[in-house]
Amino acid sequence: MSQNETPLFTGLLNHAKRDPIQFHIPGHKKGRGMDPEFRDFIGENALSIDLINIGPLDDLHHPHGMIKEAQQLAAEAFGADHTFFSVQGTSGAIMTMILAVCKPGEKVLVPRNVHKSVMSAIIFSGAVPVFIHPDIDPTLGISHGITTQSVKKALEQHPDAKGLLVINPTYFGISADLKEIVRLAHSYDIPVLVDEAHGVHIHFHDRLPLSAMQAGADMAATSVHKLGGSLTQSSVLNVRGNLVSPERVQSILSMMTTTSTSYILLASLDVARRRLATQGYELAEQAIHLAESARRKINEIPSIHCVGQEILGTPATYDFDPTKLIISVKELNITGYDVEVWLREKHNIEVELSDLYNILCIITSGDREEEVHKLIVALTELSHMHQESIKEIKAKIPVSVPSIPVLSLSPRDAFYAETESIPFEEATGRIIAEFVMVYPPGIPIFIPGEIITQENIDYIFENIEAGLPVQGPEDESLKMIRVIKEHKPIF
Ligand SMILES: Cc1ncc(COP(=O)(O)O)c(C=O)c1O
Repeated sequence: MSQNETPLFTGLLNHAKRDPIQFHIPGHKKGRGMDPEFRDFIGENALSIDLINIGPLDDLHHPHGMIKEAQQLAAEAFGADHTFFSVQGTSGAIMTMILAVCKPGEKVLVPRNVHKSVMSAIIFSGAVPVFIHPDIDPTLGISHGITTQSVKKALEQHPDAKGLLVINPTYFGISADLKEIVRLAHSYDIPVLVDEAHGVHIHFHDRLPLSAMQAGADMAATSVHKLGGSLTQSSVLNVRGNLVSPERVQSILSMMTTTSTSYILLASLDVARRRLATQGYELAEQAIHLAESARRKINEIPSIHCVGQEILGTPATYDFDPTKLIISVKELNITGYDVEVWLREKHNIEVELSDLYNILCIITSGDREEEVHKLIVALTELSHMHQESIKEIKAKIPVSVPSIPVLSLSPRDAFYAETESIPFEEATGRIIAEFVMVYPPGIPIFIPGEIITQENIDYIFENIEAGLPVQGPEDESLKMIRVIKEHKPIF
């Protein structure tokens, strides 16, 4: 089969054209049985392929027909041995990666700043996380990935780990030396699982960081929906090599997946793969070109800085994706959060994210010069508005992280344990049952099962005083914290 073909999408279209009489779900029956306003909005075409796993349409849980062919074409396009479609987002694919390699009580090496789906999988599997600190960029106030050096140390100390998870590239587009990290992990026969939520496009252009499959990683959970043109919630799980069993991956992914898989989402993966495989290079080239021109223009605006090549060269910044515009507004003496709201209210512009010092804008082949121009005009106005206030010297909040506390219970045992709420200030020495995170840099200060230390309580209160958002605990005021209940001895 050629990469120009779309067996799944074409199969669905042919089925819809035959216009069979449907005595099966979905009960809206090509839209006739649904709310007319929504039906007219979404349109007949979409509703005609909102189908289910009847015989001719194959089954994601046991693919043997058009879904199997579509997955095989995707594997070829992504350089994988096997590709599995996910309708549970990259979160579902990430949980599958961890559950495929870890049994209860087994160790998994993970960066401290992992996505919540990694912690969910650690709770489901009963695995014991061994955390690796990511590098912090104190100027930008963001966390990067883990360094080769820290991976080396983690592997030396935990050669019995069952997997190493790497976020590559990060949300901000920064990559570590993934090839070297894979080489190190493979020297211990430890599989490398890559959270590639922000990197589906990098496989298709040589100016972008190496993809997980190019670097030789064993599995990658890749968000086609984020930057690859498929519909929201559709992702792929790529698998290669012989450290991971594809049969186990299939059965775990199946356990994590609805039996009513959306064929609209699956078809969107099939066509996104065709576009990436046949035009991915040109599409990425177009996005890189537009982003670089935006970066140059933003860097001409007084007191606003858009990160570029100069970020490279540290142990954690081996490569970067220029289509991510990390725009630092720190010098304007305002926060990224304020800029996000101002852009929304005054210019009808929505950004990808904001934090204390930055906003992040992503450029894809879906962007045009007119829109980028509007962003530049808005940022220029913002800069002019704040030229007076930048003369006041405001103390910049230092971005740092305290040490990682000792894990005394596995996150799963902590999750299921009996808990109680106590004053946070009195919690030193107790085992926490909640997550606590400070933004930036968004790295958990506590995860369930860790022993609360005075150093970390002090750190959290210092950050609250400095005005940084603290997230996670049930009691948002942080007066009380949930800990594992201790049973006092009976005399
Ligand atoms: C780093 C990272 N990993 C995983 C995910 C989960 O992806 P999804 O939303 O497709 O489940 C996200 C989502 O934003 C993410 O930022």
